[in-house]
Amino acid sequence: MNFEYTEEHLAVRDAAREFAQTELLPGVIERDTHATFPHAQIKEMGALGFMGMMVDPKYNGGGMDTISYVLAMEEISKIDASASVAMSVNNSLVCWGLEKYGNEEQKEKYLKRLAKGEIIGAFCLSEPEAGSDATSQKTTAERNGNHYLLNGTKNWITNGNTASVYIIIAQTDPLKGHKGISAFIVEKDWEGFVVGKKEDKLGIRGSDTHSLMFTDVKIPVENRIGEEGFGFRLAMETLNGGRLGIAAQALGIAAGAYELALAYSKERKTFGKPICQHQAIQFKLADMATEIEAARLLVLKAAWLKDQGKEFSQASAMAKLYASKVAMDVTIEAIQVHGGYGYVKEYHVERLMRDAKITQIYEGTSEIQKIVISRGILS
Ligand code: CAA
Repeated sequence: MNFEYTEEHLAVRDAAREFAQTELLPGVIERDTHATFPHAQIKEMGALGFMGMMVDPKYNGGGMDTISYVLAMEEISKIDASASVAMSVNNSLVCWGLEKYGNEEQKEKYLKRLAKGEIIGAFCLSEPEAGSDATSQKTTAERNGNHYLLNGTKNWITNGNTASVYIIIAQTDPLKGHKGISAFIVEKDWEGFVVGKKEDKLGIRGSDTHSLMFTDVKIPVENRIGEEGFGFRLAMETLNGGRLGIAAQALGIAAGAYELALAYSKERKTFGKPICQHQAIQFKLADMATEIEAARLLVLKAAWLKDQGKEFSQASAMAKLYASKVAMDVTIEAIQVHGGYGYVKEYHVERLMRDAKITQIYEGTSEIQKIVISRGILS
């Protein structure tokens, strides 16, 4: 067993930290207030290689391992979880599935541009009546000669308006249930594709979340990923990796709030001394640091399993379940350490608390993670 990072891991972590401090921190409060997507920053993240980190260099990716990816996700999420969810979706939910299951033409046409961050992708599984119960897909793709006709609605789609390319999960044979679900690559400017209203959210307000409507959108057969009926498995396998990205995001939100609370506790004085010299604050810092370290170990273990080609779905569900709880607990305590200052926007921790909540909901709620974990235990 070896707990050391490699030189490459440290270089990636430091580059992500530097980028987050210099490029994401300025303006993060304004973007949150006005719900503005970080377009310029995401473009820069593409140029630096953060949008397709694990993709093979022959498709313009960084060729990095999953440990590098979660380290970068943690650093970006410490400062701006809206930017990091765009990064996570592009890396884990879009590039991964295309690289693993797409054909050469699809990789040439779409993956090469997505991996460079030249364009952004979105992953469309959720529907108004199919969130946790993902097999209940109502969106249909009906075969008609050499194309499919796509009809239906998708909800809560991250990168919903910013994306150019969408991985869409749809029912091709309703009689077969989840075995009749297929996956397609759809472009935004195709006729019949309408981007619905932008959601006004509690947190990750800079992230671009929309519903999408499809009316007779013509998808060429060559844009189906894998065989007909393969879509649900693709979605589930994609989410195994996606949940790891969100676990790293939750870890980063927690670590960001903790670092702010620690720094503040050394500056702020009460009763004649810095508040970090009061045991009430010391115990909070000790609890936060311990929980964050435990979450980090779960995230790294799941990333390591994935890099070794071992089964990691249960480990990534555990990492997401635990890290998202730590994100909530730590951000609330970080506000408490800041007292009244923690309740105002200028000190960042109230935003981190609002951002933390979504990590217990998207890419499978905490309750869904418990289903995945308990099925693993009992199988
Ligand atoms: N990995 C691989 N395969 C899996 C899997 C996993 N983690 N979970 C289920 N499957 C497979 C099963 O093996 C089964 O395949 P077979 O029939 O071939 O054996 C198939 O999927 C159906 O599984 P179940 O019979 O277990 O189906 P179920 O309805 O009882 O439960 C579920 C499935 C695990 C609850 C699933 O519906 C689920 O994960 N729901 C949550 C959906 C989710 O995470 N949505 C997130 C939306 S994306 C998002 O949030 C992105 C964003 O914008 C940030």
